Amino acid sequence: MPSFIHKPRRKVVLLAAGALGLVVLGALSASVVLLSGAYSTAATTQHFKITHRLLDAGLRFSVRSHASGVKVPDLAREGMLERGAACYRMHCVQCHGAPGVARHPAGRGMLPIASSLAQSAREWPPEWLYYVTRKGVHMSGMPAWEFRIADEDLWSTVAFLTRLPFMTHQDYLDLHAESADFSCRAPTEMRHDALHGDVKVVFRQYACHACHRIEGIVGPKSRVGPPLVDWPRRKYVAGVLPNTEENLIRFIRDPQGVSPHSLMPKLDVGEVHARQMARYLLASE
Ligand code: HEC
Ligand code: HEC
Repeated sequence: MPSFIHKPRRKVVLLAAGALGLVVLGALSASVVLLSGAYSTAATTQHFKITHRLLDAGLRFSVRSHASGVKVPDLAREGMLERGAACYRMHCVQCHGAPGVARHPAGRGMLPIASSLAQSAREWPPEWLYYVTRKGVHMSGMPAWEFRIADEDLWSTVAFLTRLPFMTHQDYLDLHAESADFSCRAPTEMRHDALHGDVKVVFRQYACHACHRIEGIVGPKSRVGPPLVDWPRRKYVAGVLPNTEENLIRFIRDPQGVSPHSLMPKLDVGEVHARQMARYLLASE
């Protein structure tokens, strides 16, 4: 320890070094446990109680802080409840179940298990329900819906959720029948504010990174599709069209329309999103 550090300061430095040592030791032991294969990743091994409590608390605090600016519209407008029921039927009941209605098989095998929303709907204000439905919850299996449900119908879903705690099984079935002609609307085009202009979110929300390695986007080391790196040097799109912005958009929106044997699925990419992606790829070095 250099002698020019005064005594009280020396104490602080020692404490800081000790704390840092502990953090490094913790990280090292965690890595050893993970890399040794001893840690079970099976969805049948449950979390510790403390892990559950901490995650629950973390979710609440995060949602409270992030949803604080959300303005709640009138949730009693005509047709909202029925549309919300349609959205719930189409996108939520599989994992969360409903009064007297079981979760689908996939929804029963999850860790963490998706809770019954009758409880959250009683305890949470509508803006929290909206925020979580729109943005999802990472590392939990709760998807983000903002790219799949139109904003008006995210609110319809919230309108439905707020009624959920007061429904009997029969009420649910009646509403189910009444809402048979209603559909849950998908967003028609990009909502700039929803994306904060972040094209990386767009790639991820269409699951492009599930198959491609993409410049600047963290994801699985997938080689199912060709890596989309160094794109401006590419001469052809999928080996069949000259590499221009318009052709790239055409391919992204309708792979089989351009190349009938392509294994890339059609992902219903909107025109605006496809253009954003094409420009991003063409600008990446
Ligand atoms: C693939 C399964 C799945 C689907 C589909 C799903 N969720 Fe979830 N949801 C989860 C999981 C897992 C959690 C996190 C565990 C929990 O807190 O319930 C969660 C959490 C939530 C929460 C926070 C509840 C709380 O108390 O923590 C809300 C609200 C929610 N989901 C609403 C919805 C809505 C609305 C839909 C349909 C638009 C939906 N979810 C579709 C799996 C799903
Ligand atoms: C299920 C896997 C899968 C997903 C998801 C996927 N792709 Fe592909 N993609 C492929 C495969 C496989 C090919 C090669 C097929 C071909 O050349 O026709 C391909 C080809 C491409 C090409 C041409 C590559 C080249 O070398 O010429 C582009 C560009 C592309 N994908 C962009 C995207 C974008 C953008 C998304 C998201 C909207 C996406 N892909 C989602 C599998 C996928």
